[in-house]
Amino acid sequence: MFNFPKDFLWGAATSAHQVEGNNKNDWSEWEKTNAERLSKESGGKYPPENYISGKACDHYNRFREDFDIAKSLGHNAHRFSIEWSRIEPEGGKFNEKEIEHYREVIKALRERGLEPFVTLWHWTIPIWMRDKGGVTSKEFPKYFAIFSEKMAKNFPEVKFWVTLNEPEIYTMNSYLHGEWPPQKKSFWKFLKVYKNLVKVHKVAHKVIRDINNSAQIGIAKNNSYFEGWLTPALNHFWNNWFLNKIKDYQDFIGLNYYFHNQTYGFRFNQNKNKEVSDMGWEIYPEGVYQVLKELKKYNKPIYITENGVADARDIHREKFIKEHLEWVAKAIGEGVDVRGYFYWSLLDNFEWDKGFWPRFGLVEVDYKTMQRKIRKSAQILSTLLSNVG
Ligand code: FCB
Repeated sequence: MFNFPKDFLWGAATSAHQVEGNNKNDWSEWEKTNAERLSKESGGKYPPENYISGKACDHYNRFREDFDIAKSLGHNAHRFSIEWSRIEPEGGKFNEKEIEHYREVIKALRERGLEPFVTLWHWTIPIWMRDKGGVTSKEFPKYFAIFSEKMAKNFPEVKFWVTLNEPEIYTMNSYLHGEWPPQKKSFWKFLKVYKNLVKVHKVAHKVIRDINNSAQIGIAKNNSYFEGWLTPALNHFWNNWFLNKIKDYQDFIGLNYYFHNQTYGFRFNQNKNKEVSDMGWEIYPEGVYQVLKELKKYNKPIYITENGVADARDIHREKFIKEHLEWVAKAIGEGVDVRGYFYWSLLDNFEWDKGFWPRFGLVEVDYKTMQRKIRKSAQILSTLLSNVG
């Protein structure tokens, strides 16, 4: 049933702010001033603590134990992000202890046979950079390049680099909808930031390439499967614009697939919603196939850098993973060069402005005791793994 290439990479993804705990960045600051409001807006359903990342999953201290679990599940790769604000807590001042920390993280992955996929920017920004204007600042690409260069120099053993995570989701939520820090609602800022991120990727690509000739460098792009008469326009602006801009500066495409989006008239998300996740996101496995087929034209290897479901009761996850992988296998069978799949996420974690309640993990986290419990559905990847290659 499943036909995957022999050296296919299987794993799960996390991001620093969502799992590490005790981060000090633009998000952690924002949480402090917005937790009450978000709790009120939930009608009191979730207390303010839900909206404060705090200790998160304490993955900063428990990464070895967590990677043991990934290994026990048969994974052979893992995607995580390096927290810029730890490495460079003040502009121009690098913290060697934190560099050492990530060296240990990479070493722990290698020791367990897990190929590291390193994301350099998963949305959080050091406070000093925020104060200079964050991603709107003309200086952002320069500072990000310095950070990227430092990382590439320190970690020559890392082959796969994801410079940016979902530039379109960040830009939309932070600068168009005004929901995420720094909560701006401006179409012009939105465009400016989106364009700035193109530059950011290009400079980061250059500095990493100069240091590491064999590095594979890309971004993690959130693409959606659109249906409806606006499809050509939406494909152009949402799915392809950024990728077209960076097409000569990427070695692979990272795909984050979550959405199907039926748009009739000007009303987005008119999905049938027969099956939805705890967050109300429609479960639509065929969409990953459609999106992959559309990406084929770039003629680059594709890694699915995120795909997952919020499902506290673990009633959808196994079927979700299996069916998405069936559609991925079909795309591969039709000549799409897909080389890896990372489930989002290894652990339950802090889901941005939603806080802790959405449960995406293959592994359940008890936030009081920090105990980990492997969900039943987590086995599906390992079972599949033992049947391929
Ligand atoms: C993606 C993000 C990731 C996580 C999942 C659910 O858009 O990249 O950090 O929040 O959604």
